[in-house]
Amino acid sequence: MGSSEAESSGKRAVVIMAAGKGTRLKSQRPKVLHEIGGKPLLAHVIAAASRIVAPGDIYVVIGHQAEQVRNAMEPTGVRFVEQTEQRGTGHAIQCAREAIAGYDSILVLSGDVPLIRTETIERLWRFHHAEQAAMTILTAAPADPTGYGRIVRKSPDQPEVEAIVEQKALTAVQQEIPEINSGIYAFQTAALVKELGKLTAGNANRELILTDMASLLRSAGERVVAMQAGDAAEVLGANTIAELVALDATLRATAASRLMAEGVTIYRPETCVIDADVEVAADTVIEPFVQLRGHTTIGAGCLIRSYTVIEDCLLGRDVLVRQSSVLTGSTVADNARIGPFAHLRPGSEIGEDAHVGNFVETKKAKLGKGAKANHLSYIGDAEVGERSNIGAGTITCNYDGVHKHATRIGKDAFIGSDSTLVAPVTVGDGAYVGAGSCITKDVPANALAVSRARQFVKEDWATARRAQRQKE
Ligand code: UD1
Ligand code: MG
Repeated sequence: MGSSEAESSGKRAVVIMAAGKGTRLKSQRPKVLHEIGGKPLLAHVIAAASRIVAPGDIYVVIGHQAEQVRNAMEPTGVRFVEQTEQRGTGHAIQCAREAIAGYDSILVLSGDVPLIRTETIERLWRFHHAEQAAMTILTAAPADPTGYGRIVRKSPDQPEVEAIVEQKALTAVQQEIPEINSGIYAFQTAALVKELGKLTAGNANRELILTDMASLLRSAGERVVAMQAGDAAEVLGANTIAELVALDATLRATAASRLMAEGVTIYRPETCVIDADVEVAADTVIEPFVQLRGHTTIGAGCLIRSYTVIEDCLLGRDVLVRQSSVLTGSTVADNARIGPFAHLRPGSEIGEDAHVGNFVETKKAKLGKGAKANHLSYIGDAEVGERSNIGAGTITCNYDGVHKHATRIGKDAFIGSDSTLVAPVTVGDGAYVGAGSCITKDVPANALAVSRARQFVKEDWATARRAQRQKE
């Protein structure tokens, strides 16, 4: 919508109803903080609203576990309205009466209807203003309308609505109505505020329900209309765990389709878990059963093999992540090779062309360009210089039981297999550490350090022992 159109329709705000308990989820967590696509329901709704109005014009009605919801959403910059007692969706809007008084029109969204697209909300606004309605209801015709409020239209081909009838109050005939209320509405504020006080709990729900505004406004001679969403999937609600899981699947399927449209190959996308904010560049291939979570960004030409889980990571171009690797809060530069069975814990920075092989764990570790740790190692609180080779089974002993200490390995160093590097310790550029060493002192550049018991050999010891046994 252009700004001139926004101006002509006056000042607008968004109200998001998010105070309900979510009884049907049977959960300790407030409903709107339950997650789909890796982020809370309410965060999705706020994101959609933020593309329409400034955060300061978004009012979130909170009530049940209000502090938890407020703390989780505060960083978005939205405003909050308290509904201390949850007496229904109509009561939620009553609680926001003062907040909305200065706006010409308001859009009401439900905190548990998270897949709503900005385009659809904009279409609802335009329809609302074109129809000059006091209330415009976004509706849909899903395969199964059970549980939703139904739309009673004046006549099937007219936009005017007589009433919204909640599931509990449906007559046998009304149960056949396929058109449902999405819980998303546009209101002309003056008309809404004028009639809002007339809501009563004398309905089948025994609550002050916003859906009753349709008939109230109609009785007051106001225009109430409905606009059907093109795709019912985007207005489905999450009231039960089954519905939540279904919406999660829809969202992830959408994320996979978006990436494929952008040139990413995802084999068996239905087996992959891809969060809403994940970005992947073209020519990257993702094998079945991969999880890409949180704020993960993957460059072009990468291959992410099966059973790998990547969360909050930044991968460059042409990175290979072999099977069953777990990468969290780390960066991996171009052409690096990770896995199989590698574990990059937060703060790992893997340089260009570097290799992190099987059963290698890194944490707060910086591997320079071309550095290699190919087998069975723990590298924590450490820096490994360019081209250095970390032998199989090398351990950085970073923890003394109280504090963490750093290990520094220079460029072109060679750490023999099964070495332990007791931090704080430094191995200089080009230095060698003999296999099986326990290094407790700094190793100068280009030196060799060996710290292990000398080998002794007893010639024919075994032959003598076997001969002794036979005699016994
Ligand atoms: C509501 C609609 C129904 C519609 C459906 C779409 C009512 C009475 N019914 O039913 O017609 O088909 O959404 O998903 O509105 N909330 C508050 N304060 C309250 C009660 C609820 O803020 O006192 C919030 C909830 O947190 C939720 C939203 O309002 O985010 C909707 O409430 P919910 O109880 O889920 O209503 P539904 O039964 O889904
Ligand atoms: Mg609901």
